[in-house]
Amino acid sequence: MTRRSIIAGTGAALPARSVSNNELAAWKNIDTTDEWIVERTGIRNRHIAGEGETTATLAADAARRALAAAGVAADRIGLIVLATATPDQTFPATATIVQTMLGIDDCIAFDVAAVCTGFLYALSVADNMLKGGMADHALVIGAETFSRILDWEDRTTCVLFGDGAGAVVLTAEEGDPDSGILASRLHADGRHNDLLYVTGGPSTTQTVGTVRMKGKEVFRHAVVNLAGVMHEVLDAAGHEPGDVDWVVPHQANKRILDATAKKLGLAPEKVIVTVDRHANTSAASVPLALDTAVRDGRIRRGDLLVLEAMGGGFTWGAAVVRY
Ligand code: UT7
Repeated sequence: MTRRSIIAGTGAALPARSVSNNELAAWKNIDTTDEWIVERTGIRNRHIAGEGETTATLAADAARRALAAAGVAADRIGLIVLATATPDQTFPATATIVQTMLGIDDCIAFDVAAVCTGFLYALSVADNMLKGGMADHALVIGAETFSRILDWEDRTTCVLFGDGAGAVVLTAEEGDPDSGILASRLHADGRHNDLLYVTGGPSTTQTVGTVRMKGKEVFRHAVVNLAGVMHEVLDAAGHEPGDVDWVVPHQANKRILDATAKKLGLAPEKVIVTVDRHANTSAASVPLALDTAVRDGRIRRGDLLVLEAMGGGFTWGAAVVRY
């Protein structure tokens, strides 16, 4: 028997407003077409946060749903790790705002910044803290309002992103070694800062800045890095691609999902796809996709999952989970 981190429940939250490609183009006066966006990315809709909706409010809603699904009361949470690149404030950490919204008086709470890979980083940090005995129940959240750092004049980026949040309750249990998070692998290579970044920051421009991306180059790195880290993490967990029931990937581009699955020899039907409905929600995309497939009944207890993501930094990572 060893101490394991089990995904006890999942939850998600999306802004009320869903915006189609055509609606977005008309609303923000973007020189684009539904055909171009669907063909190049698979995106049809995204949710955009409105007044009163922030990264913290979305995160708290997703967390409440995850707590309800897990049957864990908020006051039993000892750790909140929140992944975001779009915090409500530069400080304090959005995790502490969510903590207060959930009515938790005292727990460990902090943010993790690894952009689109943020949820994988947060999951691994929380897993290790639970295994080390720092807490028994953790909330791991990915939450973003990327619509607030987009340059609506830059059609090469502004059509790609959406807002949302996803959360899991991780519970430490003395259990079967083939349960919960079986392995995680994380990477970063800071030499690629100029391929995907935000133009501002408190210490440089004293502004928030807007997203810039050299899409083609990011695409090329994404397929190679994701296939590599998926092989690595499956090896570490003692599994092969053929053992995988579901891949729950970061949702940046349907073509990246297809190309990565092909490289691993995985059937496209085993890949959870939500990019058509949510677009790229950065750190929120993996837990949003996970919650979608848990709630629609595709992902069942006992299934072998591979979670993976790649984003700014570059950062990339993957986890193998016996759900
Ligand atoms: O979440 C972090 C990870 N992010 C990613 O993984 C994103 C990776 N990259 C991608 O998903 C793709 O590279 C994009 C979807 C961003 C772009 O697709 P692409 O097939 O690489 O297109 P491109 O950048 O080479 O652009 C092709 C053409 C260009 O026109 P010219 O120069 O060929 O005349 C662009 O100006 O498409 C044009 N274009 C657009 N046209 C209509 C770029 N954006 C748009 C647009 N609407 N929104």
